[in-house]
Amino acid sequence: MLPRCAAPVCHVLLLVLCLSAAEDFDWTKNDRSSSFYYGTFPTGFSWGAGSSAYQTEGAWDKDGKGLSIWDVFSHKKGRVLRNDTGDSSCEGYYKVKDDVSLMNELKLNHYRFSISWPRIIPTGIKSDHINEKGIQYYNELIDHLLENKITPIVTLYHWDLPQVLQEKYGGWQNVSIVNHFNDFASLCFEKFGNRVKYWITFNNPWSVAVEGYETGEHAPGLKMRGTGAYRTAHNIIKAHAKVWHTYDTQWRGRQKGLVGISLSGEWGEPVDINNQKDIEAAERYVQFYLGWFATPIFHGDYPQVMKDYIGKKSTQQGLGSSRLPSFSSQEKSYIKGTCDFLGIGHFTTRYITQKNYPASRGGASFFTDRDLAELVDPRWPDPGSEWLYSVPWGFRRLLNFVKAQYGNPMLYVTENGVSEKMQCTELCDDWRIKYYRDYINEMLKAIKDGVNVRGYTAWSLLDKFEWDEGYSERFGLYYVDFRSKNKPRYPKASVQYYKRIISSNGFPNQREVETWKRRATETCSSSNQLLAAEEQRSTAANILRLIHDPLTSHMEMVTEIVVPTVCTLCILLSAVFLMFLLRRRN
Ligand code: NOJ
Repeated sequence: MLPRCAAPVCHVLLLVLCLSAAEDFDWTKNDRSSSFYYGTFPTGFSWGAGSSAYQTEGAWDKDGKGLSIWDVFSHKKGRVLRNDTGDSSCEGYYKVKDDVSLMNELKLNHYRFSISWPRIIPTGIKSDHINEKGIQYYNELIDHLLENKITPIVTLYHWDLPQVLQEKYGGWQNVSIVNHFNDFASLCFEKFGNRVKYWITFNNPWSVAVEGYETGEHAPGLKMRGTGAYRTAHNIIKAHAKVWHTYDTQWRGRQKGLVGISLSGEWGEPVDINNQKDIEAAERYVQFYLGWFATPIFHGDYPQVMKDYIGKKSTQQGLGSSRLPSFSSQEKSYIKGTCDFLGIGHFTTRYITQKNYPASRGGASFFTDRDLAELVDPRWPDPGSEWLYSVPWGFRRLLNFVKAQYGNPMLYVTENGVSEKMQCTELCDDWRIKYYRDYINEMLKAIKDGVNVRGYTAWSLLDKFEWDEGYSERFGLYYVDFRSKNKPRYPKASVQYYKRIISSNGFPNQREVETWKRRATETCSSSNQLLAAEEQRSTAANILRLIHDPLTSHMEMVTEIVVPTVCTLCILLSAVFLMFLLRRRN
């Protein structure tokens, strides 16, 4: 735990560093923002919030659940920040009723969650064993949502592959996984499809491919640079198409649901809109992100620019064929059109400029294949995750891009939100209020532009396990006290704000909207104080426990008390030193 004062110090330091790094570029020329738009969403627009199994359920080894690659990955030392794991996380497995009442409090129309594959098929192989207790858990969740008039939007794969499939076959590297995934999906359609009408095959396959099999930051932690991500994506696209066809031919008639995929797409804006090279580089950025998956699904094959760039680099590297696999013409027509709705997960934007990376043997990578550099405007707010800058106008551009490229498909925003890095209690999340207000407003403008957006999912309902960042980044509308055994939830001010957007179905008029923020933050300071007192009490209890437990005391004293204190001092000293240097230069 960092002391309360440490977070502002970090921000000052980051600001000082950013300003000095960007001082040779006049970012004010690049202002793309436009004014706020008052208006409401189409009738029937669906408002929701989301979560995923590994990030919230906990109960990692309970009631017959099998191991997932994330259980194994997070249990290895040094893979996740502070060696956090999702073992108990928010204990969502035991808190269905509590969490549905939070959704009721918000008056959500839908809730997006994922099914843990190893919870219902422990080895991942259906013929081995089906875990009835896992099925029962999801039945209860779905039933309880429906009793409360909340539509379930269910993701089949949010990254928690059964470990057995990784060990036995190499996970997504092996095409045999397509059939196993199809068996799992069929089981879900059979057991839950009478009540679930919105299915998402994959969540953010870009991350699965790049972070799981290229950089190794995520489970299964493989670093197969230049090939791993492309092969993973290839099998994911095939698996998605197969599941869509299975639903289409075997279940749709009876169940009348929809099957889509949730793709992550950050927007890439050319640094110089008059420079053709920057324009093309920005286009490549988006094509290597969203287009990598969306183009085969809507048009039957990879984006031409990916085929050209990866093919050219592979030849220069002396390879006989492209590192990007290709689809046969039969596969192309099988994959094309396998999307009833498209889910979009969007958080941030980058400025993009052209940058050539010479193709060296052995130096192949997804990132250098793109020949571009990513930049950020130092004035963009970045309250939480290192990669997440708040750039609302990028959202409208991305949505319009999707409309233009893929024939204006039915869209659901499946993830959008912002984190905070502060380790200490902060329920007065005014920056999150601003983020939601401005991003949702840009989505409203996109709808006025004619983009077919049918629903919006705030990411996320709760603070939760944030993958390799552990619990250090909090995306929740509700704060979760992870140090308390019972994992209590507390509403942040953004709950009140989002609730007003939902009940007004948008931003009705200036006078009303301007009162929302004040009203949303009215109660949070007192709740903040209560929670801070509770946290101090549990810190004191922890310190006492450490002092009395000689076995764990030394290590934990070092990680929980000494390291944060020394770090804070270093940060303070560096900030003072940097400011001193900057003053001297002026
Ligand atoms: C996208 C992932 O799907 C989600 O699980 C994660 O919490 C967010 N990114 C924020 O990092």
